[in-house]
Order: sequence, then C-alpha cells, then structure tokens
Amino acid sequence: MKRVYVWTLPTRVFHGLFVALILGAWIASLEDRWLSLHVAIGSAVGVLVVFRIVWGIIGPKYSRFSDLALRTDALKEYLLNLLSPTRRYAGHNPAASFVMVAMLVTVVFAVISGMLAYGITENRGVLAFLHTGLSHNMEWFEEIHEFFVNLLWILIAAHVGGVLVDRFLHKDDRTLNSIIDGHKNMEGESALLSWSQKIVALIGIGGTIAVLIYTLSVPNNPLIAGYNQKIDYKQENPVFVNECGSCHTLYPPTLLPKESWSKLMGNLSNHFGDDASLDSADHQTVLDYLIKHSAQSSSQEMSLKMMQSIENRDMIAMTQTPFWKKRHKNIPDDVFKSAHVKSRANCKACHGDVEQGTIEDNAIKAL
Ligand code: HEC
Ligand code: HEC
Repeated sequence: MKRVYVWTLPTRVFHGLFVALILGAWIASLEDRWLSLHVAIGSAVGVLVVFRIVWGIIGPKYSRFSDLALRTDALKEYLLNLLSPTRRYAGHNPAASFVMVAMLVTVVFAVISGMLAYGITENRGVLAFLHTGLSHNMEWFEEIHEFFVNLLWILIAAHVGGVLVDRFLHKDDRTLNSIIDGHKNMEGESALLSWSQKIVALIGIGGTIAVLIYTLSVPNNPLIAGYNQKIDYKQENPVFVNECGSCHTLYPPTLLPKESWSKLMGNLSNHFGDDASLDSADHQTVLDYLIKHSAQSSSQEMSLKMMQSIENRDMIAMTQTPFWKKRHKNIPDDVFKSAHVKSRANCKACHGDVEQGTIEDNAIKAL
C-alpha cells in the first residue's frame, strides 16, 4: 500500500492550535478574574475558525469542504457497517465529516455569543455599545454562550470517540498518527500546496497568533477594553466619602436599590451595632446622593443582579443577598476570617476597583 500525504502542515497546525486554544479558553473560564485571558483566547479562536472556513473553500485536497463525505446515505452506510467498514476514507469519513462541520459551525456561534455576552453583560469589548439597551436580558447571552460551548464539548467527545473507534475497533493507527505526520497508508493522491495556499495559511495562522499576542499584551485594546465608568467619589461627593468610607469599604451607591438606601439611612444610630449618625445637613446630602446613584440608575451587571436578587425584600446588607452569597460560595470561610480580609463586607480586600464604582472581573485580586 502507498503512503498518502493527507493532512498538509497548515491543516495540522490548525488542528494543534485549535486543541490548545479550546483547552486554554476552558481553563481561563474557571476563574472570573481570568476573563480577559478567556476573551483573548476566544478572539484568537475566532480568527482561527475563519481561517479554517477559508481553508475549507480554497485549501488543498482532503481539507476542502467539497472533499468531505457530507451525504446522509454515506453516513448511514458508514454507521451501519461500523464494525467492519466497507471502504476506507483518506480524508474524513462520513461521520467525521458531519462532526467536523458541526464543530466549525458551533465554534462560530460560541465566539459570536461570547462576544455578545462580553459586550452586553460586561460592557466590554467591541460589542460594548450594545450594553445599555439589552442589559435587562443580559443573562441570556451568557446562557446562549454556555449552550454552544457545551454543544462543542459533546462534538469534541464524538470526534475523539471516532478517532478511538478507528484506532481500536478498526485497528488503524494511521488516523491518530496522521494528526502528527499527515500520512495515511492507502491508495490515493497526495495533497499538495500551491503558493497562494501557503500564503493564505501564513496569514490565517500568523493572524491567530498575532491576535492572541495583541489582546494579551496591549492594555485596553478594543477587544477587551471596558466602558463602565470609574468614579472619583471624593471629587463628586466628599461628604459621602468621609462619612461612609471611614469605617469600611466605600460601597458604591449603584450596588443597592433606593429602598435599601432609604432604610439604611433611616437608622444610622443603630448601624450594624455602630452609631453612624450624621448631622441633618450631611444626612440629607448623603441620602440624596445614594438615591440619585442607586442601582436603579445603573446598567451595570452587578446593579441589576443585586436588584433582581433583593426584589421586594427588605435588605440593606449586600452580603446577605442570594446573589452575593451565590457569587462568593466557593470562597472558604477561612479566607473571609483571615487577617487580610477580616469581614465579608470588606469588599476592597478582594475587589481592587470597588471604591471607584465598578467590580470588574480583571480587578479581582488573587486570594
Ligand atoms: C462608625 C462606623 C461606620 C460608619 C461611619 C458607617 N458604617 Fe456602614 N457598617 C459599619 C459596620 C460595623 C458594618 C458591618 C460590617 C461587617 O459586617 O463587617 C457596616 C455595614 C454596612 C453595610 C452592609 C455591608 C454588607 O453588605 O454586609 C452597608 C451597605 C453600609 N454599612 C453602608 C454605610 C453607609 C452608606 C454609610 C454612610 C452613611 C456607613 N455605612 C457608615 C460601620 C459603619
Ligand atoms: C475574600 C475576597 C472577596 C470579598 C471580601 C468580596 N468578594 Fe466579591 N468576589 C470575589 C471573587 C473571588 C469573585 C469571583 C467569583 C467567581 O469567580 O465566580 C467575586 C465576585 C463578585 C461579584 C460578581 C462579579 C462579576 O462580574 O461576576 C460581585 C458583584 C461582587 N463580588 C461583589 C462584592 C461586594 C459588594 C463585596 C463586599 C460587600 C465583595 N464582593 C466582597 C471575592 C471577594
């Protein structure tokens, strides 16, 4: 039997890079404070998948979509004879063809929904201009993103499963090895690259790496830049800063709804066991400021979620809300009791930007 060159270098580099980036994106999704890294990797995936689609149109034999066995009769025939295949495919077999196209489509949707979630929910990235208008339904976009990502994992499992079927059921180790060296043992025509294909490959793969390096190394680049405004409270309202930031973190007014602020301000003489009373002029100044800038006035994710979580409940402590508890449930009690943190209410020990009115993922300090 002949050796056929099936997977040319760009196809194999695409494959390796794709595996690495998907794994990287997954790892970077495990901690909120790594969100910028997740988005940087996701952006690179976006470029890489565009390259693969172009490659599927103008690439070499076997990598082209027109070379895939995308016919239901072929799929049926293949699956019915899975135990003893009637023919071998140099490129993708029918099952692998369908899974591969499904993966590409799913990744496209995962990247788009990720960009939408980032723009709409986090007010960051190139789609941040969509933030205010759709902010009340912001969770949807995260959920849609998660749906496509979960679908991708299922397809990846099917893809890996298919390779294992070839390796162990069909005893064909070339499927697995061809991922590395590009060759399979069979009759057929070897793939060849033209000059123009080489140039396209260089642009596609070079572009992917360039986007990754760019998003990671250039601060505030358009792909990850945030647009939640930082506020200098000292300049806006020194009374608020002096009176409400002396005992604890200066909690941004946008974190609690009007009703909570009114209730809290109505009982400052017994404020969590302390007397935080103010003279009447300062009291009015602070109350007006809190009401004017309450969660109702903000489109930030944290404001909306805090309001949704409080609903009509009579609450003045953010740390008592179901939303706060849920977001911090993975943090062990010892951390909150540590000398550095001391209290759940000491937000600034962990959120470097809270006293400027935002709680961005990339400002969460490592614990
Ligand atoms: C004399 C000290 C003192 C002053 C002044 C003070 N607070 Fe507090 N505040 C506390 C203490 C103590 C707690 C409970 C903190 C804890 O649980 O660790 C608290 C808790 C809070 C909480 C709840 C935090 C949470 O989610 O658990 C809010 C909201 C709050 N304060 C707002 C204010 C505002 C607004 C002002 C200004 C009008 C203010 N505080 C002034 C001592 C003070
Ligand atoms: C011991 C450190 C710590 C303290 C103290 C703390 N947080 Fe957090 N907070 C975190 C971590 C870590 C996360 C991210 C959790 C995750 O990865 O899901 C987080 C997440 C959040 C989020 C969600 C952010 C997002 O974009 O999803 C909000 C809002 C928040 N914290 C508000 C607060 C407020 C308000 C306080 C003070 C009342 C506070 N936190 C105190 C560590 C802390």
